[in-house]
Amino acid sequence: MLLFTDRHLVPEGELKRLIMRGVCRMFPIHAAPTIKVENALILCDVDLENFTSARMLRLALAVHRAPDSPLVFLLRDRTHHTESQARALGASDMLSVDEGFNAALRHLMNRYPFLGAHQSCVPPEARLAIEDLLEANTWYAAGNYEGRIDAGAQAVLDAIEAEGIHHWMDEVLSYDNLTYQHCLLVAGTAAAFGSSLGFSRQDKVLLTTAGFVHDVGKAFIPLEILNKETTLDAAEMANVRRHPMIGYAILKEHGVRNTDVLGCVRSHHELLDGSGYPTGLMGNSLPDLVKMVTICDVFSALVEHRTYKQPVSPEAAYDYLAANGQLFDQALVRAFGPSILPA
Ligand SMILES: [Fe+2]
Ligand SMILES: [Fe+2]
Repeated sequence: MLLFTDRHLVPEGELKRLIMRGVCRMFPIHAAPTIKVENALILCDVDLENFTSARMLRLALAVHRAPDSPLVFLLRDRTHHTESQARALGASDMLSVDEGFNAALRHLMNRYPFLGAHQSCVPPEARLAIEDLLEANTWYAAGNYEGRIDAGAQAVLDAIEAEGIHHWMDEVLSYDNLTYQHCLLVAGTAAAFGSSLGFSRQDKVLLTTAGFVHDVGKAFIPLEILNKETTLDAAEMANVRRHPMIGYAILKEHGVRNTDVLGCVRSHHELLDGSGYPTGLMGNSLPDLVKMVTICDVFSALVEHRTYKQPVSPEAAYDYLAANGQLFDQALVRAFGPSILPA
């Protein structure tokens, strides 16, 4: 659904949820998208008494409205005059906003149930960014990706704070692409972890970003190794174990300057007893942020389906973390529990 608006509405409540789920894209009427969007429902919240707005809308519709796409007008003042103007612009339906904007949106969703069929709680900024970051070709090109990574992580955090981790987990666990699924799940659990601890926005974004990008080095590990159904041999294992250092190097080279995030990417497979990789750091030299990402990473890997193992329940994954105090910081494991276990 495309929303063309000239009213500078603050996206809140139901509209914000639709935007985050990728159901609705909102455009100020003077900055309609340059690409044609096929067969999308177009929703107009435009002051038809304003000559300039009405003219801009007419131009935008000429580009974006496919012959069979519904065109719905939200009318603030439903008078004979505004209704006939909406009809002149090709309205196929009109909704009054007398009971508020969100109420009108609910009527719209009831009238056009197909809008709800594609709802996703994973925002497009996060989906598109992580898809790209897991492609080796992305990293062969020059470019600074810090802004894109930040936008993706902020979108994950917003979605987790609006919808909660359980919807997120249900959706992400249904994806087929295992590394893509894993990065979104680690980012989501990291966001939930930071939120439940009452972190500042800046620290929540930091933790979510670290989860979002922790495995981007896997873009350079062959898929036949990542998806192998049987146990990896020593050479294959050594190949997989390159991914933290690769991730660290490519992120640094492409504009990520935050040393906390880079440290998490490099050290997320280190364990308290020094048995982890790539350098076998001991627990007392690992920052809390790294240990938190490790907890989110191991939890996510356990609840995910992999080609070589069945998923376990969130409760069983938590029990594994709690039973291995030599590997995982138990104070942090206890703090993690309430953020991901059903209440
Ligand atoms: Fe990893
Ligand atoms: Fe991971």
